[in-house]
Amino acid sequence: MSPPVTTPTILGIESSCDETAAAIVINGTTVKSNIIATQFELHAEFGGVVPEIASRAHIERILPVIQNALTQANISDPKKQIDAIAVGHRPGLIGSLLVGVAAAKALAWVWQKPLIGVDHVLAHLHATTLHEPNQPLPDPIQFPALGLIVSGGHTTLCHMQSPLDIKTIGRTIDDAVGEAYDKAANMLGLGFPGGPQVDQRAKLGNEKNHELPISRLSKTSLDFSYSGLKTALLYKIRGLPTGKGKSRRFEKDHHDLNESEINDLAASFQKAAINALTLKIQRALNQSPEKSRFQSLVVGGGVSANSKLRTDLHTLTAQNNLRLHLPDLHYCVDNAAMIAGYAALKYQNQQFDNLSLSPQPAGTLS
Ligand code: KG4
Ligand code: ZN
Repeated sequence: MSPPVTTPTILGIESSCDETAAAIVINGTTVKSNIIATQFELHAEFGGVVPEIASRAHIERILPVIQNALTQANISDPKKQIDAIAVGHRPGLIGSLLVGVAAAKALAWVWQKPLIGVDHVLAHLHATTLHEPNQPLPDPIQFPALGLIVSGGHTTLCHMQSPLDIKTIGRTIDDAVGEAYDKAANMLGLGFPGGPQVDQRAKLGNEKNHELPISRLSKTSLDFSYSGLKTALLYKIRGLPTGKGKSRRFEKDHHDLNESEINDLAASFQKAAINALTLKIQRALNQSPEKSRFQSLVVGGGVSANSKLRTDLHTLTAQNNLRLHLPDLHYCVDNAAMIAGYAALKYQNQQFDNLSLSPQPAGTLS
């Protein structure tokens, strides 16, 4: 195998849930290609991701997606032009992860390239540093930084001492915020994936129309909880149930709501869901000792595309004299550019994996 180069070209592969993705990234931040094949249409009728369907779809799509990423980046001789192969190998659905990991291992072996396993959740935080060749470089992150990962599986606050030294300081004790959004959309009859739909409807509604609970937990806790909000929304939509267990019945459902009532409920849900995030960010800032004050806030994951979250974080960071690092909208959801980008940091430290790399359902911050 050739010695490490200073500006590596890395092929990234991502298949942890329901997106099959591949990307070529140079030197950790310049994105030459970023291909994402979504599976929304396959899962929509079930109102959520069906693991078995997801892994079968990954098998069908992975090779065309990789080929597409190579072609768009003008890579005709991968053996010569690529320096390493990176793959998101945790956390995620095991059957989905397996497809990406098997493809990455096969290519690393055939092309004789270093293999780099990447934690998908940590890679979400790296998405803020990505840019296209014709775009200016984003500002470098100042450390220590406060990290917030908000996705379908995670709601995690972390202390980032450096890009590779990241520790969890708060996490959800039940549902993730993205999961709560998806369930809220389902209860409101808005389809899947729910986050973007609730966000759109919330812009049309009045957030003051319903008082929904914002979880605070104990006075000093940096953890999150979304199950109470979910239940409160359910009761607002369907009324209080009668009976218990299997004989539990509701008097109404979302079909009884008109468009403006749906919009108001979406707005009230969004207010509570996002305020719960900003409340804990402010708490973490207040708790950090003066001598090791956070310099920046780094945000990643699908929910970082949320319009209210983005607006509120601009206000919060301005008030606290913090730099804000948000990913561009197309790098918020699962993508392989963030995998290839994060892998460059490991490449520079020669943190390589061998062909026994295996998929893992749990991640570093789980
Ligand atoms: O990071 P991601 O693509 O996948 C996971 O790693 O989970 O995040 C997907 C989640 C879904 O729950 C989706 O509904 C949510 O991100 N999401 C949003 C928005 N866009 C995507 N949630 C709220 N507002 C949005 N605009
Ligand atoms: Zn993700």
